[in-house]
Amino acid sequence: MTKVIKGISEFLLIRESENYRDVSVGFVPTMGALHEGHLSLISKSKEENDITVVSIFVNPTQFNDKSDFENYPTTFEEDYKKLNDAEVDYLFMPIYEEIYLDNYKYSITENDLSHDLCGAHRPGHFDGVLTVVMKLLNIVKANYAYFGEKDYQQYLLIKGMVEALFIDTEIVPVKIVRDNDGLALSSRNIRLSEEDRVQALLFPQLLKSNKSCDEIINELEQNGFKVDYIKEIDNRRFGAVTIGGVRLIDNVKK
Ligand code: PAJ
Repeated sequence: MTKVIKGISEFLLIRESENYRDVSVGFVPTMGALHEGHLSLISKSKEENDITVVSIFVNPTQFNDKSDFENYPTTFEEDYKKLNDAEVDYLFMPIYEEIYLDNYKYSITENDLSHDLCGAHRPGHFDGVLTVVMKLLNIVKANYAYFGEKDYQQYLLIKGMVEALFIDTEIVPVKIVRDNDGLALSSRNIRLSEEDRVQALLFPQLLKSNKSCDEIINELEQNGFKVDYIKEIDNRRFGAVTIGGVRLIDNVKK
């Protein structure tokens, strides 16, 4: 059975036990509403480690939009069943008051890539992500932590933080998991209406096409998308759009 741990002190006790200290620990941080994308990170961690820890914490400091935070799906019963079926060892679910004992007086800022792409459209977002991931890495002290390429910018920033601050956990990227029709899986997809779900498909289709970024932006806008950006960096094309009030991000290697 997957053991649920809420208190940080309870987690630290487990961390001190021999069967945690002396084996390889893999860690998968999430915000819940788990889908096959999350589960692919978990199965990679299970393959590569003796113990797998998953965290669920909907981190308020990374939501620049209050209603996005308030509408973020929470599906604990289903999440727990998926984790238990996947034979995850520990589910860590800290509470806000313990994680942010300092009231977010201390935060981590990256001063380059975090201002581009999503960072340019979501002020403070990556400070919130980096700060919470740093806290979680320091509590869990895993050998490996797994992050999806779906959030490629996030992966790069976390990898950079771990290197810059000499954190003793190796960051492992995991390929994007897509629905059969090509839309990248996301916890937010369940908020799409049936009609918008069909329309959303145009986004990954155009992203991987040979059209220029400007052509893609025009076509998406003509089809009812609000486009934050379509941009290429280092042979990878990144995009963020909103359809039916739901923000979607994706990226493809060129
Ligand atoms: P969340 O959106 O729940 O995602 C948790 C992890 O699952 C991230 O590493 C994300 O990239 C990965 N993931 C999500 N959808 C995926 C897909 N379709 N294919 C592959 N991987 C996918 O990302 C966060 O939470 C938060 O920012 C977090 C890192 C937990 C910090 O709060």
